[in-house]
Amino acid sequence: MSNESLANLLKEERRFAPPAGLAARANVTAEAYEQAAADRLGFWAAQARRLSWETEPTETLDWSNPPFAKWFADGKLNVAYNCVDRHVENGLGDRVALHFEGEPGDTRSITYAELQSEVSKAANALIELGVRAGDRVAIYLPMIPEAVISMLACARIGAPHSLVFGGFSADALATRVHDADARVVITADGGYRRGKASALKPAVDEALTRPGTENVRSVLVVRRTGQEDIAWTEGRDVWWHDLVERQSDRHTPEAFDAEHPLFILYTSGTTGKPKGILHTTGGYLTQTSYTHHAVFDLKPETDVFWCTADVGWVTGHSYIVYGPLSNAATQVLYEGTPDSPHQGRWWEIVQKYGVTILYTAPTAIRAAMKWGDDIPAKFDLSSLRILGSVGEPINPEAWIWYRKHIGADATPVVDTWWQTETGAMMISPLPGVTETKPGSAQVPLPGIAATVVDDHGEEVPDGSGGYLVLTEPWPSMLRTIWGDDQRYIDTYWSRFENTYFAGDGAKKDEDGDIWLLGRVDDVMLVSGHNISTTEVESALVSHPKVAEAAVVGATDPQTTQAICAFVILRSGVDADAEGLTEELRAHVAKQLGPIAKPKRVLPVAELPKTRSGKIMRRLLRDVAENRALGDVTTLTDSSVMDLIQAKLPAAP
Ligand code: WT7
Repeated sequence: MSNESLANLLKEERRFAPPAGLAARANVTAEAYEQAAADRLGFWAAQARRLSWETEPTETLDWSNPPFAKWFADGKLNVAYNCVDRHVENGLGDRVALHFEGEPGDTRSITYAELQSEVSKAANALIELGVRAGDRVAIYLPMIPEAVISMLACARIGAPHSLVFGGFSADALATRVHDADARVVITADGGYRRGKASALKPAVDEALTRPGTENVRSVLVVRRTGQEDIAWTEGRDVWWHDLVERQSDRHTPEAFDAEHPLFILYTSGTTGKPKGILHTTGGYLTQTSYTHHAVFDLKPETDVFWCTADVGWVTGHSYIVYGPLSNAATQVLYEGTPDSPHQGRWWEIVQKYGVTILYTAPTAIRAAMKWGDDIPAKFDLSSLRILGSVGEPINPEAWIWYRKHIGADATPVVDTWWQTETGAMMISPLPGVTETKPGSAQVPLPGIAATVVDDHGEEVPDGSGGYLVLTEPWPSMLRTIWGDDQRYIDTYWSRFENTYFAGDGAKKDEDGDIWLLGRVDDVMLVSGHNISTTEVESALVSHPKVAEAAVVGATDPQTTQAICAFVILRSGVDADAEGLTEELRAHVAKQLGPIAKPKRVLPVAELPKTRSGKIMRRLLRDVAENRALGDVTTLTDSSVMDLIQAKLPAAP
């Protein structure tokens, strides 16, 4: 894309300085950047001292065999002790760790002291089931406290967990159980979604009939919905309330090596079988703990933190479980969807618990925009002081809406870039330091080396675009792909020498701030220009009639690719109104330049999203190119595609 047109879109000129009060009391100040720049490894060694080590590490980074890193390799610690027991020992046993809010409205507040006994009981139960350090445990649960308890119980006994998101099918579960060679599956009879109980256990029963899952010897089942007709395999299945409840609530945590595996988490990627991303103990906990403290400016005595992600995604691992609990935070854990039983449910929860820090995804913000400004306006959101975003580029329009309608036009918005592979946040403003720019993740965090390079791996000058790379190892980096070191090297470390290739397009603006432009597969080539789907989408969303947009490049004989835009209109806008699509096309041309004007604009009711809320452009490309649809199994709702196809003229 030409630089003038880019400059146009990015000309959301408002800048937001940190609130003075926040800046004055900020956990992390500009000094952190200086310290890390002067001595990067010394900086991380200092952050590692946030944790309680049984054996303090003397070594920070071992990079003698790149790209296989070892951080704090001679240190030993127990992750669950760091997230639970030490807070109780420090007199914080009565502090609430989790305010659980079930979708049907049931609630349960769990203090750190209670969490300690729950985790100890669950650890003893796993030991009774024969789980030993190093054995893998698959966890397939709804968003209930037992999910967090199970993760910590695994960490406590050194058994790497592998969470499988509760919305995934039996097939997806079977593949992951097989690949990790799990010995135990922890699940529930079901969970609540959109006002209904939905079963989970049948998917486990089905998955465990598949070849490769034979080593699962126990299935531990939480009773959540109380469904009656649940199938039971004697000798394999055991109720949580039978096994866990009768265990001792004492368990002495053993310290493990800093490089002991903590978890495997699968990412689907665009092709091939899911990659089992392996994270280990000391470096991962150091960076999740530090970034949670720094980016959210957490004051654990007074803040109430709420990350709306599911624990089945890395966001939930790092910013529901390990980061916040290592920092002794009080959090909200919500089981359900934002619109059940009404579209103000989240804002009601913020009001009820006095949430001060909210961390969510652009897809949720755009949905709230679409539902209307009047809905959050009905609730008291004045407790909020910091808002975070993660998962996709956030359009400047959505950023501004978030700040204005959720943050009373006063709270900092931190747009945090990271990945399952990075384990923790990498690029983000700091709320007490950075003057924020709507739509940009801006600056690498202290101790992180990120930049943008061209095809040859040369750093691009300010004002230019290319590929996002990480040029130095970082503590919470993935250590490998489970069972496939070669794929680890090929996927991340082969495109550029000694440099981690993130797979995202990015640009640096005139100030050197980083803007994420989506996955590199999502860059279109139109008449010789590279145009990012994200930028055309942001241009569309900046039109008052558009709530959400997904843009793809469809093969075109004249222009290589032609821009095809799918848009969700704001409520009350008539999709069939004369001249609407022309108006939207002209709007993009005006914002970005004529080259970025979409060839087609199609109003649709819904967009195909993965269960983590990312738009599946691959399927929209299939539609735009009149092809049979590819794999739809990771979609939240596959009927969405039927609706979209019905809008299109029949294939030529
Ligand atoms: C991909 C990683 C990190 C937890 C959730 C996603 C995209 C993530 C941002 C952001 C622009 C972002 C990237 C990245 N992404 N955060 N703030 N701005 N893009 O984890 O499923 O591993 O996805 O999400 O494309 O590579 P994930």
